[in-house]
Amino acid sequence: MGANEMPLQLDNLWLPFTPNRDFHQAPRVFKAASGMYFTTDDGQQVLDGISSLWCVGAGHNRREINEAVHKQLQTLDYSTAFQFGNDRAFEAAHMLAQLAPADLNKVFFCTSGSEAADTSLKMALAYHRARGQGHRQVFIGRERGYHGVGFGGMSVGGIGGNRKVFGAAMLPKVDHLRFIHDPHKHAYVKGELPVFEEDWLLELENRILPLHDASNVAAIIVEPVAGSAGWYIPPQGYLQRLRQICDKHGILLIFDEVITGFGRMGTPFAADYFGVVPDMLNFAKCVTNGVIPMGGVICRDAIYEAVVHTESPAHAIEFSHGYTYSGHPVACAAAVATMKLLADDALFARAGSMGPVLGHAVHSAIRGLPHVVGIRSLGLAAAVELSPSDKGAGQRGYAVFLDCLKHGVLVRSAGDNLVLAPAYVVEKPQIEQMVDVLAQAIKRVA
Ligand SMILES: Cc1ncc(COP(=O)(O)O)c(C=O)c1O
Repeated sequence: MGANEMPLQLDNLWLPFTPNRDFHQAPRVFKAASGMYFTTDDGQQVLDGISSLWCVGAGHNRREINEAVHKQLQTLDYSTAFQFGNDRAFEAAHMLAQLAPADLNKVFFCTSGSEAADTSLKMALAYHRARGQGHRQVFIGRERGYHGVGFGGMSVGGIGGNRKVFGAAMLPKVDHLRFIHDPHKHAYVKGELPVFEEDWLLELENRILPLHDASNVAAIIVEPVAGSAGWYIPPQGYLQRLRQICDKHGILLIFDEVITGFGRMGTPFAADYFGVVPDMLNFAKCVTNGVIPMGGVICRDAIYEAVVHTESPAHAIEFSHGYTYSGHPVACAAAVATMKLLADDALFARAGSMGPVLGHAVHSAIRGLPHVVGIRSLGLAAAVELSPSDKGAGQRGYAVFLDCLKHGVLVRSAGDNLVLAPAYVVEKPQIEQMVDVLAQAIKRVA
């Protein structure tokens, strides 16, 4: 603490997705960040092993983005989003459309991944209704999927702990695909998609769709790689087959790329990595390098055309949806600068080349350690799965997370999974450091 600084008053902030009581026993407070490192309030350096929850792909405190934000603040700080556009929002949307695959050309902005999820679900309903198929109201998510915390995203999401308390408030017509994981034959996945003997989507075709009748299903939403659950990787052909099933039945396919978008897989989007084009693609996080909150949905031309080009009178709003901060000029300036930076520094390719370095390090240092029951790496991310302790699910993961932090590395615990997903600018020695600290922590406290 500097001479003129007041001690922090910790009583008023309710922390999200945090065990608040335990936090207050030993508060963890960041005060600065640069490149791959945070500085804590007591002056410790912490290596950011998770690009701050998958946000900071280009590393912290990038001059190019900061300057663009500063310049925008001095030019157009904010302007209303309804009935007006702003020049930065058009520019950002154009760049996103250029980056997105195929005919995903129309961008709807919001401010988070949760809002992106709800926006995409509402867009699906509006699309079907505009085409005279308003009966299509069933949504299908996937067990252990994460689509944020809005009522829509939570309903199609499949992480039990996030749903438990809010049961009565779920959307009524939702079903879930089975989770994509084979812990017996494919506990260890190293940089390649596993080949499942079983057809994982048979249940969708034989049970779920007949149950609701496919003609009533509006959309299926999945994360191409299940990020928040702990980096669970789909088997070969899974997403292609999902695309075919959706096409066969006129169901929209939504990829939630809040984590996988903007380079995590070494490609602009996971859609490119897997060679599957969704009808809508949700994004957030890395789009602004985490600097200013932003999310959005990129949809195919046909969805926009169906909703917007109707017989409604000229003054009528075609899609009654939007946020005060949709297309916020400062967020859009950050997005434009981020996308330029990702391109100028070839950071997608860099993520692609550092991915195997991370995968190799994690598999070689951690496989075989006590309580390790799986390791999965793909793109520039890896997860180590521990067996749950008899003190309860998640306890072991949390203990390892705290121990890593004590030793200067931020990892993510998702239940008993420990996830590493560094910024794309990560260097090999930093990967070695984070993997070593994780390995030692598992030995010490797991
Ligand atoms: C796939 C996915 N969708 C949605 C979200 C929610 O994003 P936000 O926290 O910005 O609302 C997340 C957050 O991690 C995510 O991983």
